[in-house]
Amino acid sequence: MYASARISLKKITASIIVTAGILVVFPVYAQQDTDIKPIGHIELSNPADLTKQQAEQIYLSVLPDIKAIFAMSDIGTAAKYTSWKRYNNAPYISATHGARYVDNYANEIAKDYGQLKPGETYPIGSILAKDSFSVTSDRSIFPGALFLMEKMGEGFNKPSGNWKYTMVLPDGSVFGTTNGENSENVEFCIGCHAAKAALDHIFFVPKGYGKDP
Ligand code: HEC
Repeated sequence: MYASARISLKKITASIIVTAGILVVFPVYAQQDTDIKPIGHIELSNPADLTKQQAEQIYLSVLPDIKAIFAMSDIGTAAKYTSWKRYNNAPYISATHGARYVDNYANEIAKDYGQLKPGETYPIGSILAKDSFSVTSDRSIFPGALFLMEKMGEGFNKPSGNWKYTMVLPDGSVFGTTNGENSENVEFCIGCHAAKAALDHIFFVPKGYGKDP
């Protein structure tokens, strides 16, 4: 039985995000009626508008819990990514990934993350990971999905630039993976990332959030 069979439709709501003219129906958890528990609580007057320092502090405090959640996943990568190099200096809100705070990691093979010149491609085996969390109006902190891209060999999937996209839900189950379980659920990742085809489908972190190489 696939892990995703554990997810009932009731648990998933579609939130609609409009980004750069692209309409994306993004699957997110309806936090109130699920068994996804908060992983922390903060005492701030305006949690929607965290400073960089506050967001970083919160992330570091809940990271052990986030790590524990994805360690339950069937996807080996999901359990490992926190041991890789992190490429952003503080969490930032990503409108294109569920409007949550996100962080970016890359494995050793993908050490040129953000350094690639137009026309170059990442080596096979490169893996990029983006975890996410949200802070709700009652100041609870909730874990979000984990987004993965893994560079596969020639012939894997031309439109995706031979990247395997995977989305892991915050209970460790796989929402979809390119050419695998529920591949259609991650089809939309390919379309948006293809805008960066010249840079091997990679966007890199927003200005001001990158760490020095
Ligand atoms: C509407 C556009 C859009 C969609 C859809 C989208 N992404 Fe992204 N992705 C981006 C942008 C822009 C960035 C870089 C900035 C950021 O993090 O928001 C990014 C960054 C990433 C990164 C870090 C590598 C990089 O490009 O810098 C991963 C991993 C990733 N996305 C995975 C996914 C997965 C998996 C899906 C589908 C479940 C997905 N993305 C859907 C636009 C998108």
